Amino acid sequence: QSNQFCDAGVGYPESTCGFSSSSSSKLLIKGGTVLNAHQQEVADVYVEDGIIVAVKPNIKVDEDVTLLDATGKYVMPGGIDPHTHLAMEFMGTETIDDFFSGQAAALAGGTTMHIDFVIPVNGSLVAGFEAYKKKAKKSCMNYGFHMAITKWDESVSREMEIMVKEKGINSFKFFMAYKGSLMISDELLLQGLERCKSLGALAMVHAENGDAVFEGQKRMIDLGITGPEGHALSRPPVLEGEATARAIRLAKFVNTPLYVVHVMSIDAMEEIARARKSGQKVIGEPVVSGLVLNDSGLWDPDFVTAAKYVMSPPIRESGHDKALQAALSTGVLQLVGTDHCTFNSTQKAFGIDDFRKIPNGVNGIEERMHLVWDTMVESGQISVTDFVRITSTECARIFNIYPRKGAILVGSDADIIIFNPNSSFEISASMHHSRTDTNVYDGRKGKVMSIFLFVPYA
Ligand code: URP
Ligand code: ZN
Ligand code: ZN
Ligand code: ZN
Repeated sequence: QSNQFCDAGVGYPESTCGFSSSSSSKLLIKGGTVLNAHQQEVADVYVEDGIIVAVKPNIKVDEDVTLLDATGKYVMPGGIDPHTHLAMEFMGTETIDDFFSGQAAALAGGTTMHIDFVIPVNGSLVAGFEAYKKKAKKSCMNYGFHMAITKWDESVSREMEIMVKEKGINSFKFFMAYKGSLMISDELLLQGLERCKSLGALAMVHAENGDAVFEGQKRMIDLGITGPEGHALSRPPVLEGEATARAIRLAKFVNTPLYVVHVMSIDAMEEIARARKSGQKVIGEPVVSGLVLNDSGLWDPDFVTAAKYVMSPPIRESGHDKALQAALSTGVLQLVGTDHCTFNSTQKAFGIDDFRKIPNGVNGIEERMHLVWDTMVESGQISVTDFVRITSTECARIFNIYPRKGAILVGSDADIIIFNPNSSFEISASMHHSRTDTNVYDGRKGKVMSIFLFVPYA
């Protein structure tokens, strides 16, 4: 398989790429607890020109090296968000965060790389790729691309090969929902799975039964339920479970690995658990909103408040959140994304009379690291090294950028965050870095974390 981003030559923003070769390009981070997925150790980290050169105790350096004291703090690889939508045209509008504002928010929250989804242009993958390369020109950090497959013919099949062999994209997302726009049939999914297998690429699915969702939406409208709560009621967990099971079985039939994005329900999680137990290679990605929120916000009488929680699959009733956390802690689910896909209140108001027109998506790129630490580590559900694995290392491994990313190792890129475990955070829409005017985590407080960021491209 080709490398997700460095072979592509698209991962490094040209304007900001490169760490200057002046004396400031030498940095020694002293005395911190270095966290990797495989171990923790008290050590110094020495960086030259954006690359980690040494990791060991008591490194001695010359006077021209910038020193940073990390005593009592954690030094770890920057977060990698496997699932974002920046500058995406969707549901008649475009996400309010582009590759600059979305990445600024990411960096503020300790995420130093993200992988976004290219949407083809008129079915053309090459045109979609070129369009996203343009969108990503304003980047201030590393990024990678997955590619959505929204139709099927000879040219899509051919272009998938071009993406894998020439553009460094080796993961393709198939939408089993969004009937009438992005949704694909079982026939297409099957062909897509076969093609992924022959190319050595990874198939990803948005697993909801789009036909049944369409029926569920009609039901709600017929009942006179037009508000944001109708969104959740029209697409219950059973439809996510069904599609997850179907995708898993089709992947088994083809004998190729499967990555299930935004796992939001017990129903979907249990299908993944069963498949993994039987030895099938299925990866499950919960997103922060599914791990820490429940559907209560969708019932808020204020439309703007309720509409901000509308995403697909929906944020579920209380109970699914805790079950997803448990699945993450026991390894049934492997890494955490955000599905960062922001629309402001004006955009959300497109659906004021009809929940079907509310653009789907929530924020999270800035909050992910804080909330996962607070929910999973502070609660004792996972260790600090597990934290690194589920927020960074596992993503790098799955998408072929490890150990360049996702590790504090000699030779790795110096995308380093320093984390003060004795600090605290509070999330607010007025303080966040995203361009959206609401925040689904507004008012949340927790222990940890102030982040010091060292990214060679910042
Ligand atoms: O509601 C969501 N999830 N919006 C983004 C598109 C997708 O399905 O990932
Ligand atoms: Zn560079
Ligand atoms: Zn999706
Ligand atoms: Zn998404």
